[in-house]
Amino acid sequence: MAPKPCFIANWKMNKGIAEAERYVKDFIKRYAETSLAPSRVIIAPPFTALQAVSKQVKCGDFEIALGAQNVHYEPHGAFTGEISAGMLCESGCQYVIIGHSERRTLFGESDEVVRQKLFAVRKAGMLPILCIGETFEDRRAGKTWDRLQAQLSAALTDDLMKMGLAENVAEWVIAYEPVWAIGTGETPKPGEVEEIHQQIQAFIRKHVGKGIPATLYGGSVSEQNILEFMEMPNIDGVLVGGASLSSETFFKLIELGVSEKQ
Ligand code: 13P
Repeated sequence: MAPKPCFIANWKMNKGIAEAERYVKDFIKRYAETSLAPSRVIIAPPFTALQAVSKQVKCGDFEIALGAQNVHYEPHGAFTGEISAGMLCESGCQYVIIGHSERRTLFGESDEVVRQKLFAVRKAGMLPILCIGETFEDRRAGKTWDRLQAQLSAALTDDLMKMGLAENVAEWVIAYEPVWAIGTGETPKPGEVEEIHQQIQAFIRKHVGKGIPATLYGGSVSEQNILEFMEMPNIDGVLVGGASLSSETFFKLIELGVSEKQ
C-alpha cells in the first residue's frame, strides 16, 4: 500500500521564534478552512524555534509533525555547539533530517558520520529523514546510482538491523535530493526520479526488508513543477527548502500534491 503523501518543510537557517509562530498559526488556519485528504506534514525549523513550533502543532485536531535539521551522534558530552537526539526528543521532535547535502558538503559530514547519526536518532526512538543525492559530476560521469547506493549502504549497516533499529523502516523517510538541483531551479526529469526511487525501494527491500519508507524528491520543488513529480507512482512526497518559507506557498504545494495522489 502506498504511504500517505508526505510534505516536509526544511526552513534551513531561516526564521526566528516569532516568525515561526506566525507561520504555523497561518498554516493551521489554512488547514482548518480546507478539507484536505490525509497527508503527513513535517516542519523542520531551526533548533531555536523547535519548542515554539512544537507547542503550536499540538493544538487542535490537526497535526503537524516536528523535525530537526541536524543532530549530534553522541548522547552528551563536551561537544560545543552540538545538540543530542535526547534533547531533540525533549523539544518535541519526531523526525530528524540526516545526511542533507548541505551538511555533507559545507560541514564535511562523511557517510560514517551519517551512519552514526542514524543510530543515534533510532536509539532515541525518533524517525530519520535520510537524505541522499549525487553531485553534478557524479551524474555527468553516469555514476548517479553508484553514489546513491554507496550512501545507502554506508547508512544501513547490518548492526542497525541486528540491534532491531530498522524494524519500523516503513515509517522512515528517504529523500532523494540531487545536490545540483538544490536551490538552483534545475531539476531532473520526473521520470528519472521515478526510476531512482524504484532503485532505492528495491535496495531497502533487499537489505532491510521490513517495509518501504516514504520516498521523497527534493530540489527546487515549486508550484510549477510539483504536479509532474507527484504524478509518479513512487514519488511519495517532497522535501522543500525555499518554497516552504512562505506558509501560503507550502500549503499550496500540499494542496496540489495531495490532489494529484487522490
Ligand atoms: P530547495 O527546495 O530550496 O531547492 O531546497 C531543497 C532542500 O535542500 C530541502 O532539504
